[in-house]
Amino acid sequence: MRKTTGACLTIGALLAACTSVQAEELNIYSSRHYDTDERLYSGFTEATGIDINRIEGEADELIERIRLEGDNSPADVLITVDAGRLWRAEEAGIFQPTHSELLDERIPAALRHPEGLWFGFSSRARIIVYDKDDVDPALIQTYEDLARPELKGKICIRSSSNIYNLSLMASLIEHDGQDAATQWANDVVGNFARAPEGNDTAQIEAVAAGQCDVAVVNSYYVARILNADDDASKAIAEEIAVVFPNQQDRGTHVNISGAGVVAGAPHPEAAVKFLEYLASDQAQAYFAGGNNEYPVVEGVKVDNPALEQMGDFKADEVNVAVLGENQPLAQVAFDEAGWR
Ligand SMILES: [Fe+2]
Repeated sequence: MRKTTGACLTIGALLAACTSVQAEELNIYSSRHYDTDERLYSGFTEATGIDINRIEGEADELIERIRLEGDNSPADVLITVDAGRLWRAEEAGIFQPTHSELLDERIPAALRHPEGLWFGFSSRARIIVYDKDDVDPALIQTYEDLARPELKGKICIRSSSNIYNLSLMASLIEHDGQDAATQWANDVVGNFARAPEGNDTAQIEAVAAGQCDVAVVNSYYVARILNADDDASKAIAEEIAVVFPNQQDRGTHVNISGAGVVAGAPHPEAAVKFLEYLASDQAQAYFAGGNNEYPVVEGVKVDNPALEQMGDFKADEVNVAVLGENQPLAQVAFDEAGWR
């Protein structure tokens, strides 16, 4: 009897000890995989004492995994890139709204979901790269200019199934309407130098190699090359220049890396704390700088020679949520134009 009581006491003491030393934790599913993101996670743990467990994978796989895990999902936060993918996550019902004065104050309204389902923490611009010896930049000042007959046989751009192009098309539909956007896609297909192949980096390389004169790519791919030390990158950098399109009217199409709190998150408070941490000056610098992106919080500067060289620009202020909503229409426009 005495022995049993002793054992119970011991177990009780153990449980108490376990509860008191058990650290708070947070489960993050992320499709980002940059070394600087490590500093983000350790910075958050240092600031809050909350340990982070991480699952990394392709965005669409993570979204599907959270959907399948349903109520049993350990996921607290999903981090991914492109408003189009955040919209897919939203459509899969995996986000819950977050209400945070801090996030509403620090993150521009255009770069977060109107009901707080997700928030943008860095931005990227989809810009025009051109061969500076062969192209008059006056010809390519807007996305609409890419339809000009002078560019026949000169344009390289990746496939229409790519989320960056779907979001660009979604933006054109928003501003120019479905018919004009479809006609634009038709004309751009007529200007292709080659059938779409490869990623954004491959388009930049093709311009530098003279396979085409003009390409459309995300800004961080250019910045990555401009910041690189190797001879191959330096050689590419010498051949190219960039245009931030539509500076005289609506501004350049921008997209985001973003995150939201998962519906049924086991640690919702820690999840909101993490999103708020991502909006801090320190985290903004890591989160944007690690991938040559732009911070979203005003006044935060990233020390990045390439971004400085590429210069400031006016960004389109349409809410990026629209890019998601217009994805199905964007696919229709591409299909009708025969843009594979
Ligand atoms: Fe990318």
